[in-house]
Amino acid sequence: MLRALSDAVAPVPRSIALDKFVIHGGVALRGEVEVGTAKNSVLPLLAATLLTRDPCRILDVPRLRDVDTMLRILEALGIEARREEDGSIATHVRDESSVEAPYELVKTMRASVCVLGPLLGRRRRARVSFPGGCVFGPRPVDLHLKGMRALGVDLDLEGGYIVADASRLRGGEMYLGGPFGSTVTGTANVLMAAVLAEGETLIDMAACEPEVQDLALFLVAMGAKIEGIGTPTLRVTGVTELHGATYRPIPDRIEAGTFLVAAAITGGNVRVNRCRPDHLRAATERLIAAGCRIESGPDWVSCARRGRLQACDITTLPYPGFATDLQAQFMAMLCLADGVSVVTEKIYPERFMHISELERMRARIRKEGNCAIVHGTDYLSGAPVLASDLRASAALVLAGLVAEGETTVRRVYHMDRGYERMEKKLEALGARIAREKDVEAD
Ligand code: EPU
Repeated sequence: MLRALSDAVAPVPRSIALDKFVIHGGVALRGEVEVGTAKNSVLPLLAATLLTRDPCRILDVPRLRDVDTMLRILEALGIEARREEDGSIATHVRDESSVEAPYELVKTMRASVCVLGPLLGRRRRARVSFPGGCVFGPRPVDLHLKGMRALGVDLDLEGGYIVADASRLRGGEMYLGGPFGSTVTGTANVLMAAVLAEGETLIDMAACEPEVQDLALFLVAMGAKIEGIGTPTLRVTGVTELHGATYRPIPDRIEAGTFLVAAAITGGNVRVNRCRPDHLRAATERLIAAGCRIESGPDWVSCARRGRLQACDITTLPYPGFATDLQAQFMAMLCLADGVSVVTEKIYPERFMHISELERMRARIRKEGNCAIVHGTDYLSGAPVLASDLRASAALVLAGLVAEGETTVRRVYHMDRGYERMEKKLEALGARIAREKDVEAD
């Protein structure tokens, strides 16, 4: 059974102005769009700047709500971060005495837990608020803690905080696989502690996501010794100190995938520039299966569709499998495909909050366990819908772009966590979309 959206969605933060998107569907998107830097690379990279006293510079950092949250956490930890005119963020450590990532910040963004590893590596102590679940189900951190324990860290849970002492930090061996595969931020956390631990660390079943590779390359640029980057077996030889570095993170493969689906769902033709085609293979292969024409060059991918969309099955898996962060967007597209598609969620079995909202737009979807059976329909009908999380909001916007009539997507602050100027980019491709103040606002 799907939980009612109102039960599952976190209370509306009063401090954030509520906006909504008003979309008039029916325009086939055409043109070129440039994707921003990967949110899920930038967040751990910013956390990694805790590992050195030297200044660091991360280039092309997108203006996103999650980035602002990470900067506030770093500020609480004594780091001064400045956004430069060219879009980079320059960091400088002012004071290394604080080791606490407070509840008020961590509760708004789970990726905040990424400061645990660097705090233990450099400051040897940490008090990090325990991140809770989220709207798409339980999100444990047991593997993060298992990895830290293998490095000799003493851990306890007190008053909702992970309280950790790494005075005996040393290299160790660990297997970081859980019931749903490897862990992305867990691998990042352990890696960031291990680079400054004495001796060798072996991380088996490490996550291979491009964002984890990106972090490892940044750490190497800071002087860390890591072998096996991009594979499930990472070997780290601890060093005593890391130095500052300047780094350009990878483009956002989820934003790129979202624009490709925007072309597919509207029957348009969009070229996505400044992306990595090799990071998008699972997505482009499914778009081809759905009847789209895909072309690519060294740093671009285009997607075009003329005929009807065809049903196809999707199973989310750890990288290089199909990304769970694109599941909702593809489901929106499959709502309009000829035939029946089965979408199987193998990373977050509960990540289906978008179904009930898509149903308000005339989609026909049946959920069974971790599967959604999508019966294609001729058309979607515009409706007022409510965004429940970042990727679900993207799915609703995509559905709105093709639905008949007007769709209003409320609570787009979810979208602002991970997509920079989404409505402007879509507008430039021809979409009729506007951001408006919502009546829900105080
Ligand atoms: N898991 C455990 N134990 C752990 C950690 C994870 O059992 O200690 C399970 C999770 O419950 C899940 C699976 O392992 O079933 C994978 O979770 P993972 O730890 O890899 O997720 P994460 O690191 O918390 C990152 C992204 C998510 C993305 C997932 C999966 C960041 C900041 N977040 O989360 O991105 O969905 O990996 O690819 O990198 C998003 O951007 O919208 C988003 C949610």
